[in-house]
Amino acid sequence: MVIGMGLLDLNLHNKLPEKFRADFPALSNSVYLDSAATALKPQTMIDTTVEYYAHNTATAQRSLHQDALKVTTAISEARQSVAKFIHSQSSHQIVWTRGTTESINIIAQSYARPLLQADDEIIVSELEHHSNLLPWLIVAKQTGAKVIKWTADVNELSSLLSPKTKIVSITQMSNVTGFCPDLVKISQLVHQHNAILVVDGAQGVVHQPIDVEKLDIDFYAFSAHKLYGPTGLGVLYGKQHLLEQMDVWQGGGKMLKNTTFSDFEVEDLPYKFEAGTQNIAGILGFKATLDWLKKWDEAQLNCYITQLANYAESKLSELNHIQFYSVKNSPIISFNMHNIHHNDIAILLSEQNIAIRTGGLCAKPLMDKLGCHGVIRISIMPYNNQQDIDSFVTALKNAIEVLT
Ligand code: ALA
Repeated sequence: MVIGMGLLDLNLHNKLPEKFRADFPALSNSVYLDSAATALKPQTMIDTTVEYYAHNTATAQRSLHQDALKVTTAISEARQSVAKFIHSQSSHQIVWTRGTTESINIIAQSYARPLLQADDEIIVSELEHHSNLLPWLIVAKQTGAKVIKWTADVNELSSLLSPKTKIVSITQMSNVTGFCPDLVKISQLVHQHNAILVVDGAQGVVHQPIDVEKLDIDFYAFSAHKLYGPTGLGVLYGKQHLLEQMDVWQGGGKMLKNTTFSDFEVEDLPYKFEAGTQNIAGILGFKATLDWLKKWDEAQLNCYITQLANYAESKLSELNHIQFYSVKNSPIISFNMHNIHHNDIAILLSEQNIAIRTGGLCAKPLMDKLGCHGVIRISIMPYNNQQDIDSFVTALKNAIEVLT
């Protein structure tokens, strides 16, 4: 029943993914099912980056020649595009960072560290990848605060929240199980207890519309490279009053209004967090990516992915001795084959030109909870198609035959 429906609907929507696929030159290299690690890049993002390096190279916010002024304007426009994309009221609440990891480390060091006292609590879900756990463990060591483990279940959260809770940090979508916590209820509960809500959007931003204002999220972090954009670029969103009260992160050019040899006055938002020359090529490439994304109907793309994921899951379910770790209807499918090492599968699939990810997925504590050392993960994007899944399943069967 599920397979039948999946096939029928996939055919109905076939035209959109084929047009979508045409924008990704790297699809000619392999069957790419590793997009949760990093997404492939559309031609327009590649062209914009090359154009900047080939013909329009200039710095931003510094020099006054024409090309530099153009780049400065383009960076402001890119910031506005991001603000619109996540529904932030103001682009001044959008800080460029190196990625999700840096964004969360800034929150931990510049917001949390001065605030936390011994025995204060930071609630972190056990689903988190290392980027949303280690920054909290580090700041807990520095301040004597405690990191409290949480299952990501809303009912359990009520019993964990207390006057000691200062921060709750949660993923929008697990990179291992694909689970999406109920952010509406979580946000209400966290704020009833006067704590701060941090949401790690690394995976979720790719597959769900996000409205930071409506959800009343205090801090939101994501990386451009998982959203078809360049590597080395991320975003930190924060509520204005929180960003304003925060310490600066790094010192250097353009994060200051004035300095003498003995003191300095910091710039306004968002520049006070952006010392040094930004990833200009990356920011311009990301702006082009977000403009390109607007061409597509997000709901239709998400619907297509769900159908393709269902199809993949039903094909995989036919295999003997498979154990799934991911939730249903997710673009992230994680599993293991009984008595076969996940990395052996990765190598044999690679030999058949199939790109997947295996291992701990930068989420070691979650692996401990799941009772394994690693998993086999495929992650699906709208540029994947039914042939990709069929090729993957055939290659997986070949690998299993070799290994058993
Ligand atoms: N969080 C990234 C992944 O899931 C690194 O692959």
